[in-house]
Amino acid sequence: MNAPLSFLKEVDFSKEELLELIDLSLHFKQLKKEKTPHHYLEGLNIALIFEKTSTRTRSAFTVAGQDLGMQVTYLGSDEIQLGRKESVADTAKVLGSMFDGIEYRGFKQEDVETLARYAGVPVWNGLTDTWHPTQMIADFMTLKEVFGSLEGLHIAYVGDGRNNVAHSLLVTAAILGVNITIIAPASLQPEKEIVALAEQHNNGALIKITDELEAVEGADMLYTDVWVSMGEEIDFKERIDLLLPYQINAELLAKTGKTNTVVMHCLPAFHDRKTEIGLSLYEKYGLAELEITDDIFQKHSPIIFQEAENRLHSIKAIMYYSLKEG
Ligand code: CP
Ligand code: NVA
Repeated sequence: MNAPLSFLKEVDFSKEELLELIDLSLHFKQLKKEKTPHHYLEGLNIALIFEKTSTRTRSAFTVAGQDLGMQVTYLGSDEIQLGRKESVADTAKVLGSMFDGIEYRGFKQEDVETLARYAGVPVWNGLTDTWHPTQMIADFMTLKEVFGSLEGLHIAYVGDGRNNVAHSLLVTAAILGVNITIIAPASLQPEKEIVALAEQHNNGALIKITDELEAVEGADMLYTDVWVSMGEEIDFKERIDLLLPYQINAELLAKTGKTNTVVMHCLPAFHDRKTEIGLSLYEKYGLAELEITDDIFQKHSPIIFQEAENRLHSIKAIMYYSLKEG
């Protein structure tokens, strides 16, 4: 029997495999739009474990699982023994004996890798502190929809260059041969191990890491993410002071020198005061918008929400790819 095909991080996959997943995602989107039933995995059971909160990833795994005909069980991390009364390895053995696949969102990459090692069934990484691989299939699928092809694209990530989304974008772009620039202050640039991975798996992309905003010049797409990620215990004010110059706003967009540059964001985003955290940051520091201004967010929201919807189609493709021959 072949080892279960998990989806833990992008570097485990070749360019051809990632492109196949992107095309499979586009195919599933078509089936969904046509309302063509696709219960290809009828009778299977999957478990979803979330140690961190989620809207998109949880909803996408739930609906994608159901659309494929599977039974989906949500296991809140506060309600199971994982990590407190039972090791990750023991939990993996138990869940793997009952479920056909497991999604895990948590803190340590090591935990999702341990889960995969002992479960004996596919494990999908729904985000860890290090990587956010399912997000990448949706993001590059969206780029393919918008530009028709990934060939020759130049993308730039601006903001916290050391978080899971920045890491994943850097490495995935390299594997796919898409030119990528990470623009972040020196203290928030990707660790050298992550850059080395991108270089090691590079298929012809130009890779640049810099603190200079001018490096957005020529970018077809600007990407950003929150300035403080889930689980980070840091001084918010310090991070704001460091990253405010890296906000995506009209001035930065103009520096691309292009009129058709698009903006993407994995969401959730702080672009107004309509969240508890957004409001409290406004009351404390007088800032209504953080990583992206509201005007730019609204202008580019059709693509940003297309990207969010694509989480469903891409997660469906990832699960199908893992389970189809099982
Ligand atoms: N982009 C993303 O992973 O969103 P959630 O945190 O809502 O799942
Ligand atoms: N970097 C963010 C991504 C959320 C989808 C976080 O980890 O909180």
